[in-house]
Amino acid sequence: MFVLAHLSDPHLGPLPAPHPFELLSKRGLGFINWLRKRRAIHRPNVLAALVADLKGRAPDHIAVTGDLVNLSLTNEFAPARAWLERLGNPDDVSLVPGNHDAYVRAAVGLALRDWGDYMRGDTGENFPFVRRRGPLALIGLSTSLPTLPLAATGRLHGDQLARLGEMLQQLDREGAFRVIMIHHPPVAGANYFRRLTDAAALRDVLQKYGAELVLHGHHHEASLAWLPGPQSRIPTVGVPSASGAPGHHDDPAGYNLYEIDGAPGSWRCTMVERGWRGDGLSELSRQPLLG
Ligand SMILES: [Fe+2]
Ligand SMILES: [Fe+2]
Repeated sequence: MFVLAHLSDPHLGPLPAPHPFELLSKRGLGFINWLRKRRAIHRPNVLAALVADLKGRAPDHIAVTGDLVNLSLTNEFAPARAWLERLGNPDDVSLVPGNHDAYVRAAVGLALRDWGDYMRGDTGENFPFVRRRGPLALIGLSTSLPTLPLAATGRLHGDQLARLGEMLQQLDREGAFRVIMIHHPPVAGANYFRRLTDAAALRDVLQKYGAELVLHGHHHEASLAWLPGPQSRIPTVGVPSASGAPGHHDDPAGYNLYEIDGAPGSWRCTMVERGWRGDGLSELSRQPLLG
């Protein structure tokens, strides 16, 4: 059995002091929002407890679906790199970036520069990247682009959609258990200002070529949706923010484990949901997704 862990949206704090010039942009509004609301929601002690709980389960691999940082301040990227290194080495942790990791145009490229070896495929490629681990093929997509103030949309930029179709076909021929990692949920009906703008095109590719599992973040809520696939429906799962303190609007911190077993055509996948209840983490649910 292969065990994959999935966490998302750690929104690492504390926020370093911004340079004044860094606030002359969308970051200025984001900074006010951080001081007023978000720094109380995203708590380092909650995240530390979640990571300790996750490591205690000794997963074979960890998937992280973005929003490591908050305003993409220049000084947020190195501490996020240190956090990644404490989580695991680049062979054991796969990352895709979120909208907060490319918050403004000036920050585009910083995530790839500082976290690149967690976002690189086995042959060195970026988005989409493919990493083979046990029976899994982890496919990383980037929807991380700067947006206007108050918007948190994403888009599969470049030729990712076209290449994704080819990859899914090839990996299906190889009999891999295909896991797609994406920050923005590809489901229909998302909030207009927070949506993945080319979600319908991605759903078309998934319906045509299939995948065994889609993992996303962004909504800071535990969710399970089913997208149409060529033969069977595709489980599409979101997790809360990994640092979410209880008592706020979003779900408190949580992460999922996927216990994957079987073979092409007869995969079994059980999702184990672990989340914050009371003053710590515990198992909230266990349910078969496949098989
Ligand atoms: Fe987020
Ligand atoms: Fe996000």
